[in-house]
Amino acid sequence: MTFDLVVRNGLVTTSTEQVRCDIGIAGGKVAALGQGLLAGTREIDAAGKLVLPGGVDSHCHIEQMSSMGIMNADDFFSGSVSAAFGGTTTIIPFAAQHRGQSLKKVVQDYHERATPKAVIDYAFHMIISDPSPAVMTEELPALIERGYKSFKVFMTYDLLKLDDYQILDVLAVARKRGALTMVHAENHDMLRWLADRLMEKGHKAPKFHAVNHAKLAEAEATSRVIHLAELLDAPVFIVHVSDPGAMDAIRRAQARGLKVYAETCPQYLLLTADDLDREAMDGAKFCCSPPPRDRASQEAMWRGLIDGTFQILSSDHAPFRFDKTGKLAHGPGAPFKKIANGIPGLELRMPLFFSEGVQKDKIDIHRFVDLTSTRPAQIFGLFPQKGTIAAGSDADLAIWDSSKEVSIRWENIHDNAGYTPYEGQTVKGWPVTVISRGRVVVQDNQLRAERGSGRYIERSVPDSAIPLGRPSEAALLARRFGADDVI
Ligand code: URP
Ligand code: ZN
Ligand code: ZN
Repeated sequence: MTFDLVVRNGLVTTSTEQVRCDIGIAGGKVAALGQGLLAGTREIDAAGKLVLPGGVDSHCHIEQMSSMGIMNADDFFSGSVSAAFGGTTTIIPFAAQHRGQSLKKVVQDYHERATPKAVIDYAFHMIISDPSPAVMTEELPALIERGYKSFKVFMTYDLLKLDDYQILDVLAVARKRGALTMVHAENHDMLRWLADRLMEKGHKAPKFHAVNHAKLAEAEATSRVIHLAELLDAPVFIVHVSDPGAMDAIRRAQARGLKVYAETCPQYLLLTADDLDREAMDGAKFCCSPPPRDRASQEAMWRGLIDGTFQILSSDHAPFRFDKTGKLAHGPGAPFKKIANGIPGLELRMPLFFSEGVQKDKIDIHRFVDLTSTRPAQIFGLFPQKGTIAAGSDADLAIWDSSKEVSIRWENIHDNAGYTPYEGQTVKGWPVTVISRGRVVVQDNQLRAERGSGRYIERSVPDSAIPLGRPSEAALLARRFGADDVI
C-alpha cells in the first residue's frame, strides 16, 4: 500500500493504549499502524514525541452573537486556526437561535459562516431559546433527523432562559428522538435578585459578577434539571460545571444510574474569583458564567475529572475583545451586568490541561486523551471517525513535544480576543504538529491549511453512546395506570 503521509516512530497514545509505531495515512484516513511501514509520499519524524488523537472541543462559541447583541471576537477562520494551534482538530460550536428566529434558518446561517472559513472539521450543537410550537413539532424533530443531535438550553439569561415547563418539552423531544440536551444550569431568580441588590448598593465593578453568580444558584439549578430529566428518563449534559455542590448532585445522580453527563473547563481548574478583582476594568476579562470560584472548588473539579464524574474537559471558548466591540460595549465603566460573558480558551485548553494535569501527575495520559478527545467524540456522535487513532478513523493527529516549554503571551495566541486570561503562565508540553484528515494544518509554528479546508461532519449518536437509564417512579406509576402515552 502507498501512503500519502507516514508519521514515524512516535509514541502513539489513545485513551486505552500506548505503542511506539508508525502511522500510515491514505485518503485522509489512518490506513495502517505498525513498525517499519513503507515510505510515504511525505514523512514526518515523530521520534521522541507523543502522537495523540486531535482534540475534540465540544463546547465553544464562534461567530455567535450574544443575547446582549455583542459579537464573538472570533469568526470561523480565527477560531478554527486557534483551535488547531492548540492541538484541537474538531470543534462543535453552537448554532444559536435567538427568540423569534427559525431554528432551521439559524443552522443554515452557521453553515454559511463556517464553510468558507474553517480550517479544521466541525459539527454544530444548537441553542434553543424559543421553543415555539413550530420549532418543537417541526423544525427540531427534522433537524435531529438530519443529525443535529444535541442542543443547549439555558436556565438563566433574560433573553435565553427557558422555564421548567419548556425544558421538560425539550427533554421530551430529546428523549423520544435520541438526542442529548445540554444545560446551562444557574437559578435565574437567585441571580436576578442578587444582581438587583448589588446594583442598588452601587456594587458595579467586574468582581461583583462573582458575587452575583453564587455557587448555590448553580447547585440548585443543576439538581433541579436532573430531577426534570429523571421524570422523563431523558439524558442530560450539564455544561461548564464550576461548583462542588453541583458536581455532588451530578455524582449522586450518576450513582443512581441516571443518564447525567457533565463537563468542566480549564478556567474552573486554574482561575479564581480573585482574578475578577483586578485594577480598573481588567476583571472584565475574567467574567464568564459560571465565574471562576475558589481553590477548594478547583480541587473538587480536578477530583471530578479524575474520578469520572466529568466525561469531558471543554474550553467554553466565548471570546470578546476587551474594547467597545466586546467586553466594554456598554462603556469603559460598564456595570458587571452589562459585560459580555465569556473568556477565550480554545487554543490553551489542551496545553494547560496537559501541563497542569499530565505533567503534574494528576491526570494519566490516557485519561487526558479520553477527556479532551475520545469522550466528546463518543458522546456527540463523532466516534470512531474522530477521537481516536485506529485503522479507518480520520487521520486527525496532534504530535506533542512534552518537553517544550511555552510562556503564554496573548500576541502568540491565534484567536482574536486580544488577551488571554493565562498571560505570563508557562506550560510544559505543546502540540508542535497538527494534522487534520491527513492534511498538515500546523507545523513549525506556521499555519499550513487553507481557509475553508475544514469540513462539516455529519453525526450519528449510536444508542450505545447514550445508554438508556431507568424509568422514573412517576413513569412506572403512569404506565401502571395506563398513562404510558404521557411519560
Ligand atoms: O460566560 C460564558 N460561559 N459564556 C458563554 C456562553 C455560555 O453560557 O456558555
Ligand atoms: Zn452556558
Ligand atoms: Zn458556552
